[in-house]
Amino acid sequence: MTTRHGINWDKALQLHAQERERFIAARPQSRQLSGQAGQHLLFGVPLHWMDDWSTPFTLYVKQAQGASFEDVDGNQYVDFCLGDTGAMFGHGPAPVARAVAEQAARGITTMLPSADAVWVASELARRFGLPYWQFAMTATDANRFALRWARAATGRQQLLVFNGCYHGTIDDVFVDLVDGQPVQRASLLGQVYDLTQYTRVVEFNDLAALEAVLQDGQVACLLAEPAMTNIGMVLPEPGFWEAAQALCRRYGTLLIMDETHTISTGMGGYSRAHGLAPDMMVLGKPMGGGVPCAVYGFSAEMAERAQQAKREAVPGHSGIGTTLTANMLAMAAMRANLAEVMTEQAYAHMFALAGQLAEGLRAVIARHQLPWCVTQVGARTEFQFTATPPRNGSEADAILDSDMEHIIHLYLLNRGLLITPFHNMLLVCPQTTMADVERLVEAFDSFVQQVI
Ligand SMILES: Cc1ncc(COP(=O)(O)O)c(C=O)c1O
Repeated sequence: MTTRHGINWDKALQLHAQERERFIAARPQSRQLSGQAGQHLLFGVPLHWMDDWSTPFTLYVKQAQGASFEDVDGNQYVDFCLGDTGAMFGHGPAPVARAVAEQAARGITTMLPSADAVWVASELARRFGLPYWQFAMTATDANRFALRWARAATGRQQLLVFNGCYHGTIDDVFVDLVDGQPVQRASLLGQVYDLTQYTRVVEFNDLAALEAVLQDGQVACLLAEPAMTNIGMVLPEPGFWEAAQALCRRYGTLLIMDETHTISTGMGGYSRAHGLAPDMMVLGKPMGGGVPCAVYGFSAEMAERAQQAKREAVPGHSGIGTTLTANMLAMAAMRANLAEVMTEQAYAHMFALAGQLAEGLRAVIARHQLPWCVTQVGARTEFQFTATPPRNGSEADAILDSDMEHIIHLYLLNRGLLITPFHNMLLVCPQTTMADVERLVEAFDSFVQQVI
């Protein structure tokens, strides 16, 4: 018998074969569309990594509402993936749908702002404690632009990231630590520049390494998630951020917090909840209720330095911004979302349910004595194949197991439960119910029972 992460791997493979058959039998329409898609869509999908899900062929969605969606074959699902945070406040929130429809009839994009921009910026300042804001279409772009402002404002070239980070497809961050050395991520396609020239990388939670890399005063900014969420979850150790923030200040390095996922912590993100004061902050994905848009904020001092850099620059292309950025539709969506959807009440509901979910998963793991753990950051919960939570990207990477993930994910999917396709992340939204959480925990339990 082969054991993997505490389960009987032979049984798991057998179960997986059955689950593949079950998936195929119940989804003739998705199967047909997948076949057709191969004719004109590269890899048979609109975005190549849509081919990386656990499913034997692509699952096609008919409609999504609140915490659930229906596929084209009429199968119903409770969605714990929620567009990997894009729909963290529910699919198609009514206030956003209304605002988008009304705004679309009054114009979508003009390259001039609507009055909503002023309201949204002032609401962002109130929530996140940073006084100045700019916009982008995606969190990737917001990170790219924030990095440019940081380099321009400091006159420094180096970027610092944590090993195993993900901040979207901004090229600069794809540098890993391999045997203590920075190495460009081998999977990058078509990247011809030597990224290690301008990007440094250290392990999360390693203050000594952080200080060593900042000491020469060449690092413009540290771009980081306050808790790592993209390589499985890695939490900061107590006192880590206070000390890291102090080191950044001492060596004149700006701190950019990418709160795109950790907005799950609360209204003001992880930084506000934990009393951190980054120089800049990036948020994307759920900000417009799923409508493409992202935001990034500046402290008063950083805003002054950024404006100074622009004033002193040669007139012409700044390399920051895109034509559709801050369009009227996105602004209307953000206004409605911030005013009526991303509310304290919504968060309170999500925290309560995520707590129940994390406890339920922990109870199953304990009952079956699995060497797994569960970590929660507000509305975001993750189970990982290790008894001790990882402390950095290398430890988190070592326990990723995509074969194992696929088996669990497909099992859950066949029982009408969707979780994120990469690692084991689950989100709850304002419409998720206790019954949904119980269903997930029961299915997780029944999976484990079949493979131990
Ligand atoms: C922390 C973080 N920042 C930025 C991004 C990029 O977001 P987008 O793909 O919407 O540009 C992601 C995507 O997963 C993310 O997790």
